[in-house]
Amino acid sequence: MTPPALSVEGRTYRPDEWMNTPPSILSAISRRLHLQPNHPISITRQLIESRFPDYKYHNDLFPIVTTHQNFDSLDFPPDHPGRSRTDTYYINKSTVLRTHTSAHQADTFRANQSSGYLISADVYRRDAIDRSHYPVFHQMEGAKTWDRLTEGIWADVAAIPAHGVAVEDPNPTIHPERNPLQTDFHSAEEVEAIATHLKRSLEDVVVTIFSAARAAATFGAVASPDAITEEPLKVRWVEAYFPFTSPSWELEVFWQGDWLEVLGCGVVKQSILNNAGVPNRLGWAFGLGLERIAMLLFNIPDIRLFWSRDERFLGQFAAPANFEKGRDLGLSRFVPYSKYPACPKDVAFWLPASSTPPASASSPTAPSPAGGLLPVSSSTAVHENDIMELVREVAGDSVEDVRLIDSFTHPKTGRKSLCYRINYRSLERTLTNEEANTLHEKVRERLVGRLGVQLR
Ligand code: PHE
Repeated sequence: MTPPALSVEGRTYRPDEWMNTPPSILSAISRRLHLQPNHPISITRQLIESRFPDYKYHNDLFPIVTTHQNFDSLDFPPDHPGRSRTDTYYINKSTVLRTHTSAHQADTFRANQSSGYLISADVYRRDAIDRSHYPVFHQMEGAKTWDRLTEGIWADVAAIPAHGVAVEDPNPTIHPERNPLQTDFHSAEEVEAIATHLKRSLEDVVVTIFSAARAAATFGAVASPDAITEEPLKVRWVEAYFPFTSPSWELEVFWQGDWLEVLGCGVVKQSILNNAGVPNRLGWAFGLGLERIAMLLFNIPDIRLFWSRDERFLGQFAAPANFEKGRDLGLSRFVPYSKYPACPKDVAFWLPASSTPPASASSPTAPSPAGGLLPVSSSTAVHENDIMELVREVAGDSVEDVRLIDSFTHPKTGRKSLCYRINYRSLERTLTNEEANTLHEKVRERLVGRLGVQLR
């Protein structure tokens, strides 16, 4: 029996046995946080857009796309882990909720309306539960292309304002294995010009963001450790890999004592431009996660807050009238209105034979690196993301994080036991112990009924 047709904002889809998208996820589609006036995600988008005034902005591209758009058009190999149902929300075998804004790269290059564009949008990934991960988040993609005239690129490089921040960039542009020149299509000089334009443009973006974040920390209502830091901003480029760019990089910023990945980028694979019908053009692309940046700009401690409809949250932010460079944007830091008590509850169970949840992957554009690491395995019966989603389905935004606190393999039977600590805490009110117990009981039942585990 095939499931009934699914209608989303007037579009009709035919789910099949690949369907793994719960209604709670589909209902996020209509929220469009990146377009809500005065929402921190929207303010962050506008701040970055202000550094690319001549680019075309695409802010309303629909999130349900084909696997061709999300993966194949970007040269993802057939066995890439991102394609698995444990990581990606499917509607049917060839239809997914986009996992990144790059899903629109090829189409946007094909439309070829301008040499530079930005795409801001909601993206969807099955993932861990903690204060920096949510199955729906927002990315901004940017790209710039040129006709094959290197001189034009260098003239554009010269037009990018100097920022005076020290940048570490120790690696040569080309690494023969890890970051090869696309020798069939590009000369080393062309790639040098594109790479320079790419790096200067994105350095300008992070200097803008982090200067604004520091100003907010210094002048905001809440004193923060960054306020005292007089150290100059530190930025560095590291080699990276993406299926659709070569060479590729990540940009990292030294923030509160750690190197933080801010974005991924690279020289667009020429095959993508060729397939998009613009073989005479070449250029770069980047992608960044808006939540990760908004959290540090506004000092927002929990990613669930972005989804709040509570005026105590929404009422705290206002978009600056303009984002002119060097102007004090007067961004306000988030003032916590209250922290309600947490109700941690543990659940321990035996996995069905032959299943071990693998650790979840992370990328520079996902809200932040995944938390607790798990033993990695290629088995499929129960995936940690299935556990996460089950908890999310029961407890919604009343779960703050889910952590593996113990794992154990029986020496004789070889069976594996896991213990998770689920931290129930609402952002809006105090959960009673009884309410948390009711949620937890439901989680336990579903773990048995849905995933076939045996409770201990
Ligand atoms: N789409 C990539 C991600 O989600 C980011 C990226 C975009 C990398 C464009 C290179 C070029 O992590």
